[in-house]
Amino acid sequence: MSTVSGSELRVHPDLHSASADLADEIAQILCTCLQSDRWCTLALSGGDTPRLLHQMLATDHASLIDWNHLHLFWGDERYVPHDSPQSNFRMARETLIDHVPIPADNVHPMPTDFDDPEDAARACEAILRAFTPGDVPRLDIILLGIGADGHTASLFPGSTALSEAERAVVPSIAHADPPHRLTLTYPVINSAANVFFLVAGEDKAPVVAAALAGASPETLPAAGVRPTNGRLCWWLDESAASLVDKE
Ligand code: 6PG
Repeated sequence: MSTVSGSELRVHPDLHSASADLADEIAQILCTCLQSDRWCTLALSGGDTPRLLHQMLATDHASLIDWNHLHLFWGDERYVPHDSPQSNFRMARETLIDHVPIPADNVHPMPTDFDDPEDAARACEAILRAFTPGDVPRLDIILLGIGADGHTASLFPGSTALSEAERAVVPSIAHADPPHRLTLTYPVINSAANVFFLVAGEDKAPVVAAALAGASPETLPAAGVRPTNGRLCWWLDESAASLVDKE
């Protein structure tokens, strides 16, 4: 483990070992917070990188986690039906949820069946607030990825969502298909107890290095992830970490 500009880095030879280390960490945190006799909250990220992590949580670590006291959320969602191949919820259902004994009532996908995404965002925020403490919802763990353009969750460069200071969930627009998204906002992300990036691949190396070097969140939204009272750690493979200036 090393640190760069106050962020923890855990660099591994490949995505498999990075995912295994992160799965260990998640299981440990969940076990600890469950010992305090309350439920835990975990927000999953989307895209493809977390697939292996999900499969590890569903196999090697399933017996370590008290799924009855874990509530699952998402950091963002594509505004498509939950059975769409593009749905982050569908990916998580296929790689994790269908393989673990988590009660259906503990799984809180971002709703995508409202005519107006604004209504979906508000409904999502109400559910989030029902299961998290604080004026700003504080989750135990938020998992994030990063796009080659520096976006994270569905906070994209130049998006009005970047300046949202009150709401926990807002609609956003991606310059990729599908364009309509829902995303957690910086206040919620930066309120979390643990914020973990999982990133792999040489194509992400420039934005990882720039984010850690303190790029502007307006142009590189992942750089705006700065937990105010929580832990930030980047789980990277060597390719994604290859341009980081080690301290
Ligand atoms: C999404 C995400 C997004 C993702 C990055 C990286 O809905 O796509 O949540 O923020 O984490 O785009 O995606 P990959 O892991 O597929 O590279």
